Amino acid sequence: MSGEALRSVNLRKVYTSRGAPRVEALAGVSMEVRPGERVALLGRNGAGKTTFLKIASTLLRPTSGSIEVFGVDVDATPERARPYIAVVPQEGKPFFHLSPREQVYTYLRARGLSRETAKARTEEAIERMGLREVADRLSITLSGGQRQRTMVATVIATEAPLLFLDEPTIGMDPFARRDVWASLRALTQKGSTILLTTHYLDEADALSHRLYIVERGQVLVSGTAEDLKRSVGGTLKVSMPNGALQIDAFRSFGSCVADGSHLSVIVAPERLAELMDLAIRRHLTATVGPVTLEEAFLRVVGRSIDEDT
Ligand SMILES: Nc1ncnc2c1ncn2[C@@H]1O[C@H](COP(=O)(O)OP(=O)(O)OP(=O)(O)O)[C@@H](O)[C@H]1O
Ligand SMILES: [Mg+2]
Repeated sequence: MSGEALRSVNLRKVYTSRGAPRVEALAGVSMEVRPGERVALLGRNGAGKTTFLKIASTLLRPTSGSIEVFGVDVDATPERARPYIAVVPQEGKPFFHLSPREQVYTYLRARGLSRETAKARTEEAIERMGLREVADRLSITLSGGQRQRTMVATVIATEAPLLFLDEPTIGMDPFARRDVWASLRALTQKGSTILLTTHYLDEADALSHRLYIVERGQVLVSGTAEDLKRSVGGTLKVSMPNGALQIDAFRSFGSCVADGSHLSVIVAPERLAELMDLAIRRHLTATVGPVTLEEAFLRVVGRSIDEDT
């Protein structure tokens, strides 16, 4: 193995089908993921995340550009890339006629693991994903969240060098989501690399070392969650329930959003005292909290949509 875990340069994908308009799903995406990193791919519905993951995992061919995993050209030699990767596809389902235990074990054997290793890894993944009680039931009888846990268990058990997970925690309860986070952290500690998509921005914040926001097939922003929060003017949010009419007085502090009579201002910690002073002088009640990644995402992507229209 050599180089970055994943590197794409100017990756484009245009979907064409007879009688339908062409769709440019990726319009030149360049990104890098280093070995051992957990990277989140964020973006609105239709932004191009699944298209990117399908190309990266050899399930779809790009229109142009290049993409490599561990220095192997994914499009030219997919059979050389596949041993490095494992995928939880968006809306994937376990085999209905296999139990979770059978599915995980069978998949590991198909990837060439020995009986002993496959058995040990299967038990560990079943345990980690809280599937012990349902491990021997046919997957058709499982609940939606239990099926999704089975999909994740199957892939984490591979301990592949590079894991692609497309909305891995969709439909999972908050406990199961945390089980996934813990498993993914443990895998990267062992040396695996993870690229995942999610619409849960608390998850992206808790889990990713870095993130990319994709918008209309292009990388809009990349960096850490903290970078993104700072890019909207700070890492603190001041809420003033009756501040909307006085919005102009606060604009110099950072991004201001009025919602009905409510005003929220994103502010850097070093200007907080000054802002609070002003709020008191203007007889406004103000509470301070952290900027969530979701707020930063809404502002950054929202700004880009406004600029385009
Ligand atoms: N097979 C296809 N043929 C034509 N267009 C497609 C095809 N698959 C996806 N698209 C289009 O490509 C664009 C990107 O889709 P993609 O599935 O990559 O988005 P996404 O970011 O994963 O969205 P979501 O968050 O909803 O999963 C969308 O406009 C989608 O409608
Ligand atoms: Mg998708």
